[in-house]
Amino acid sequence: MFRTITCGELRIADISKEVVLAGWVQTVRKFGSITFVDMRDRYGITQLLFDETLNQQLDDNPLGREYVLQVKGIVSERSNKNKNIPTGDIEVLVKEFSILNRSITPPFTIQDDTDGGDDLRMKYRYLDLRRNAVKKNIELRYAVNRATRDYMHQNGFMDIETPFLIKSTPEGARDFVVPSRMNPGAFYALPQSPQTFKQLLMVSGYDRYYQIVKCFRDEDLRADRQPEFTQIDCEMAFVEQDDVLNMFEGLIKFIFNTVKGIDYSEQVQRMSWEDAMWVYGNDKPDIRFGMKLLNLKCPGHVFTGKGRNNLLIDGAGFGVFDDAETVVAISVPGCADYSRKQTDELTEWVKRPQIGMKGLAFIKCNTDGSFKSSMDKFYDGERLKAIAEAAGANAGDIVLILAGSEERTRKAISELRLDMGRRLGLRKEDEFKLLWVLDCPLFEYAEDEKRWVARHHPFTSPKPSDIDTMINNNPVIENAAEYLKHPYANIKANAYDMVLNGNEIGGGSIRIYQKELQQKMFQALGMDEAEQLHKFGFLLGAFEYGAPPHGGIAFGFDRLCAILGGSESIRDFIAFPKNNSGRDVMLDAPSTIDQKQLDELQIKLNLD
Ligand code: AMO
Repeated sequence: MFRTITCGELRIADISKEVVLAGWVQTVRKFGSITFVDMRDRYGITQLLFDETLNQQLDDNPLGREYVLQVKGIVSERSNKNKNIPTGDIEVLVKEFSILNRSITPPFTIQDDTDGGDDLRMKYRYLDLRRNAVKKNIELRYAVNRATRDYMHQNGFMDIETPFLIKSTPEGARDFVVPSRMNPGAFYALPQSPQTFKQLLMVSGYDRYYQIVKCFRDEDLRADRQPEFTQIDCEMAFVEQDDVLNMFEGLIKFIFNTVKGIDYSEQVQRMSWEDAMWVYGNDKPDIRFGMKLLNLKCPGHVFTGKGRNNLLIDGAGFGVFDDAETVVAISVPGCADYSRKQTDELTEWVKRPQIGMKGLAFIKCNTDGSFKSSMDKFYDGERLKAIAEAAGANAGDIVLILAGSEERTRKAISELRLDMGRRLGLRKEDEFKLLWVLDCPLFEYAEDEKRWVARHHPFTSPKPSDIDTMINNNPVIENAAEYLKHPYANIKANAYDMVLNGNEIGGGSIRIYQKELQQKMFQALGMDEAEQLHKFGFLLGAFEYGAPPHGGIAFGFDRLCAILGGSESIRDFIAFPKNNSGRDVMLDAPSTIDQKQLDELQIKLNLD
């Protein structure tokens, strides 16, 4: 037997037991004639003590970092206890040892605080995975996986696999494509998600489906995006929006409870997409803190005009506000005492290219009841007070105001709000706030392509009350500049996103299930009948054979794990991730292939 116990298990109660352990040498410390070794395995670290009787053997077989070692010894109480590890009360007095394998010196220290940079750790990911910090993340991922499977099974969902070699129908991101040797000149695509398959499964009567499944998208990468990532993909038949929301907030609460011990018993807040945009400037608001937006001026085209407070700023002759399309404010608690240096720094922050504002206006609501503002010249105390009050400011707060074009300004105030939340410590890693964002617009107008595109995907149904608007209007737009006046701009999708702490962790919708409506949708997206048949003939065909009403959702599994683990980056929660250029630096992939392989595929490269 290689071992009788693991490196994480021994406690004071085991004293005097004879044990056999196996693991990796983390550190070797020699003190005169005795040697201490920290031995590590997946379960923990145990201190080994080699006394003078083993000196000669150690001299003949010196131990090095990451050597694989097997020891037989007696558990004894440590004189110098280590409170930081569960095995810190004991050590194993080694009687016999054997080196099972040697290691060359690792390129970085395999400890919690490693000296290895990102690239090096990715190149030697198999060593990085030995580190406790990474292992904890992989364990958390497995716990989320198990909890998901338990919940889905308890609720009658069946895990059904769907193919990876499918047909290319890019909508949204680019597809990764795979050439077919047996069909020269033809390509498969890797699925961006199993969307159409899960819908077909509903047509086939498997009314509760799920899969923890790889998805592939050739898109620009960020901390929360990988070219191959994992979804918890789900679909249900005979459901309405409410059924889906209830079932899947149940899933996330179950995961919270099982994995983190969090009792999230309150109902998950629900907010319309429009409200999210108005109140937080963002379709995935972090609702762990307030600082809601005050809209002082906005064109309000697609919106209903809610929240306009033009009167507060109109007529003061302040060009920056008068000439702007949009003026928005937030009240930041307790920051009225910001110094000139601090407000200058904030101004520089909003002027950075990523934020792109020309400047920042502010009103300090002093605790003595007076107001000090960067716009003193234009607004008297009464007006400043009125604006501050409308923004929800109290004495001691500072009101920050941005002005500019609508989209950019809304985005900028939302970023500023998040950053102020971070600066004030309001975005606590161990606080979890879920939110459903409902009913986003069904379409967006792609000005460069001069056509409507589906905001979610082409299988999402309009809200029942908007179906007639979709059917009865011609999607074609005469004057592209006026697309907001087209009835399609106001159609809402029967869709929902789940947001956790300001991150979109899942999205889904109630689907179209009638052939005619699906055809109308494809037509609205600019697909003629031939293209519809070429790309989605199988789905339109299936809808002719009794498709039930259905809907579903997919969660970003990696994202969910990362947030639960308190990290921004999903890479830390994937055993073998890609870097920001989509490369696997360990495998050195993607890479060229042999001429023979190219010949078999009948592919000629055309590289300049
Ligand atoms: P969607 O495209 O919104 O929906 O994806 C669902 C969730 O997957 C996660 N996600 C990603 N995670 C890591 N890297 C990526 N590149 C990446 N892209 C998306 C997000 C997102 O919320 N078929 C539909 C779902 C449905 O309608 O049922 C879909 O894929 O957390």
